[in-house]
Amino acid sequence: MYTHHNNALTMNDVGTKVKLKGFVAKRRDLGNLVFVDLRDTEGITQLAFDPDNDLKSIASALKNEYVVEAEGTVRERSSKNPNLKTGDIEIDVNKLRVLNTAKQPPMLIQDETDALEDTRLKYRYLDLRRPVLQKMMKLRHHMMQSVRSFLNQEQFLEIETPILTASTPEGARDYVVPSRVHKGEYYALPQSPQIFKQLLMVSGFERYYQIAKCFRDEDLRSDRQPEFTQIDMEMSFVNQETVLNVSERLIKHVMKDVAGVTLTEPFKRMTYHDALRDYGTDKPDTRFEMKLKNLNPILTDTDFKVFRGILKDNGSIQAINVKGGAKAYSRKNIDQLTEEVKKHGAKGLSFIKLTETEATGSIVKFLSDKELVGIKTITEAEAGDLILIVASSLAVTRQSLGHLRRVVAKQQNLINDDVYDYTWVVDWPLFEYDDETERYYALHHPFTRVQDADKSTFIDKPDEALAYAYDLVVQGQELGGGSMRIHEAMMQTSVFDVLGLSKEEQQTRFGFLTDALAYGTPPHGGIAFGFDRFVMILGKTSNIRDVIAFPKTSSAQCLMTGAPSPISKAQLDEFIAKPKPSKDE
Ligand code: AMO
Repeated sequence: MYTHHNNALTMNDVGTKVKLKGFVAKRRDLGNLVFVDLRDTEGITQLAFDPDNDLKSIASALKNEYVVEAEGTVRERSSKNPNLKTGDIEIDVNKLRVLNTAKQPPMLIQDETDALEDTRLKYRYLDLRRPVLQKMMKLRHHMMQSVRSFLNQEQFLEIETPILTASTPEGARDYVVPSRVHKGEYYALPQSPQIFKQLLMVSGFERYYQIAKCFRDEDLRSDRQPEFTQIDMEMSFVNQETVLNVSERLIKHVMKDVAGVTLTEPFKRMTYHDALRDYGTDKPDTRFEMKLKNLNPILTDTDFKVFRGILKDNGSIQAINVKGGAKAYSRKNIDQLTEEVKKHGAKGLSFIKLTETEATGSIVKFLSDKELVGIKTITEAEAGDLILIVASSLAVTRQSLGHLRRVVAKQQNLINDDVYDYTWVVDWPLFEYDDETERYYALHHPFTRVQDADKSTFIDKPDEALAYAYDLVVQGQELGGGSMRIHEAMMQTSVFDVLGLSKEEQQTRFGFLTDALAYGTPPHGGIAFGFDRFVMILGKTSNIRDVIAFPKTSSAQCLMTGAPSPISKAQLDEFIAKPKPSKDE
């Protein structure tokens, strides 16, 4: 055992005999003196070996990452290190035991490492020794305990649901597992516990939660992993208000408990429609303004050919105003911004720079005075401002300007990471029509309840129906999403009908659910939060891999274990049905 962790000793301990252990983080050999930085999960303490110390030659032979145990007496350092918690003291070592040697690590094991991410992932067990990742894992642990403690107190029951199951539609592809016993048949890993948690409500458990592993085969991004964790919740006999209220209190509890952040106000609410109109996205970053402004009304009679063409095709011309941006953005900077909007499908970016006396920019000569004044009024622009304009289809204009406002805000330092702008996005449309496949899709998932006002009309007018669905958004990220559910078998069947599922498909894929709903199902609803994303927010990182112990690469590989990998022929044969011998054999 040991007497202290390596962050613990201070001047108050001078003279105390201690026993420490850990990894050798650094050795400095100054000829007659040897210093060793000893690192454990909590911090670093300096071991000192004086010229007359018999152990000096052993200390000189220590290499980075050797595992050692040292005993000695705490003493004041002659040269103090104010950057270290234990920087005032060192240990005058009188016993030193090498518990294990270590190969030269392929990377620097400290916060600022020189290693490429591939190396870090291949040697993840070494990467995880870095203090910054140790802190992330501890944060994750504390947040998980805090979630559990809140939900337990609120009478939620933690219930596990299956991993080997049938497909749950959450909009991604399934990971599938072949069955050995039922050759040619497959399990799907859950995209979420959605159907099971609803069935638990049918079973009469009024409040369920699970820290649930979910699996989705989808394009990966910096906030997405193929295997991730949700805080999954479901409640019976509630309405949307209750779900939002419990969720809000959960988030506030964890923020306070783990990070000491007090959120007193109720979370803001915004409709889906307003979020798209003002921010161009359903995950608005509301920490700064720079809202999208619709220029269509001022440009209806424009002579500018490009804009006229867009309006004729029912497109949309919108702008953001970069306050004080006229000077800050050179032509070259604007070219870079143009590349940003092109990533989202826009063909180009127009701009107007305003000075005290004039307006300059790519399109000014094509605009009438009236149009220019109109644009300035709508964007509330004044001398010194830069107006950025995208003209395209409504979806592309919103997407590209929504992205651009975040890029510009970052460049202009308008984003404060200490502001937690939790916002509910509510009143989502129930369905979305896809022109390519010519069918409706559920915007949340197919079990989401239509709002009462649209109950009698949603079958005939699916485009207009709103759902009791909500997302929790913070710092421009979707942290969670949920809905009230359909609890009547008839309504569930009608929704499947609108989604174009044949009766046969409804029966084979979801028959067990519609059957269950018919046995007395309480009104219910719930939500799931992306737990990894929640840790990212408090850990102040934009890379989801920083908060997961053993993450996958952006192409869904584990560089350490080599997964996914081929399996042996013998193993494969177990899943493949052998052709039946023919009669002649
Ligand atoms: P949804 O699909 O919105 O809802 O997922 C809920 C939350 O899970 C997180 N999330 C992810 N995190 C990391 N990597 C991923 N690939 C990933 N995909 C989703 C997000 C998201 O907000 N069953 C419903 C919830 C419900 O209706 O109760 C569901 O899964 O933070």
